[in-house]
Amino acid sequence: MELGLKEKNVIVTGGGSNIGRSIVHAFAAEGSNITIAELSPSQGEVVAGEVSQMNTGSRVKVIACDVTDPEQVDEMVAKSVAEFGSVDVLVNNVGWTIDRLFMEKPREEWEKEVKVNLWGAINCIHGVLPSMIERQSGAIVSISSDAGRMGEYREAVYSACKAGVIALSKAIARETGRYGLRLNMVCPGLVVPGEDESISGESMWNQMRDIFTEDVLERVKRGYLFRRLANGSEIANAVVFLSSDAASFITGQTLSVSGGYTMM
Ligand SMILES: NC(=O)c1ccc[n+]([C@@H]2O[C@H](COP(=O)([O-])OP(=O)(O)OC[C@H]3O[C@@H](n4cnc5c(N)ncnc54)[C@H](O)[C@@H]3O)[C@@H](O)[C@H]2O)c1
Repeated sequence: MELGLKEKNVIVTGGGSNIGRSIVHAFAAEGSNITIAELSPSQGEVVAGEVSQMNTGSRVKVIACDVTDPEQVDEMVAKSVAEFGSVDVLVNNVGWTIDRLFMEKPREEWEKEVKVNLWGAINCIHGVLPSMIERQSGAIVSISSDAGRMGEYREAVYSACKAGVIALSKAIARETGRYGLRLNMVCPGLVVPGEDESISGESMWNQMRDIFTEDVLERVKRGYLFRRLANGSEIANAVVFLSSDAASFITGQTLSVSGGYTMM
């Protein structure tokens, strides 16, 4: 299958850690030009270094950016266009949560969840749309979550935000389909970075690794039909497909890559 992603210009937000890093690797394998928009640019550079070792011809630019700040997002998009000439694909990957019961969670954590998961996606989609509309071409894939499809225990506000990302993308897909733009969502199963894996100081796994102990992970695995967790590359493959010409008649769709955990 021809994906047509060679030398296409792709922005991956939060491409420095875990799922974002796998997404960067997958686009690099296709020979795309990649902008890693990162709150932790030093971690973005780690991943850029990994891409250069792949020798696929893929070019990477790391841009420091906080996706919750619309001005920084617009600046990041302008720098990416200055480097590569256009934005063909945006992957809204940044997200954040920490699992706690609704009544036990402090307001600051809800506010961070809304800011990072919902405002981050709104800002980034708003940032790339003008140039995509002008060029009458573009694909946006947002990383949502099964939490946003079903409501997850201990993830109330995060679930609401991830549902928001789905509805936001569907609504914008309706508004921009006439310009040839496509917006789709991927909902990953649990992907936990290994203890020895380099992650950003901003990664949610700095706190969440303590919650997902070996015991908890064994129980989580039983929720997946294959009795194992996902690999980042399995999530990334779905993102790359939905970003590609091979998905040219797919828009407004939500794809769970979660081993049958949800079937919606
Ligand atoms: N890991 C999972 O099990 C899982 C499951 C379902 C959905 N998701 C979703 O997948 C996405 C990626 O998850 P992950 O586990 O790889 O996350 P992560 O926390 O490990 O990595 C997030 C990356 O984004 C960067 N970042 C954080 N805040 C930022 C900001 N404001 N601006 C720019 N960059 C920022 C961090 O530096 C980090 O490199 C998220 O949207 C998450 O909600 C993850």
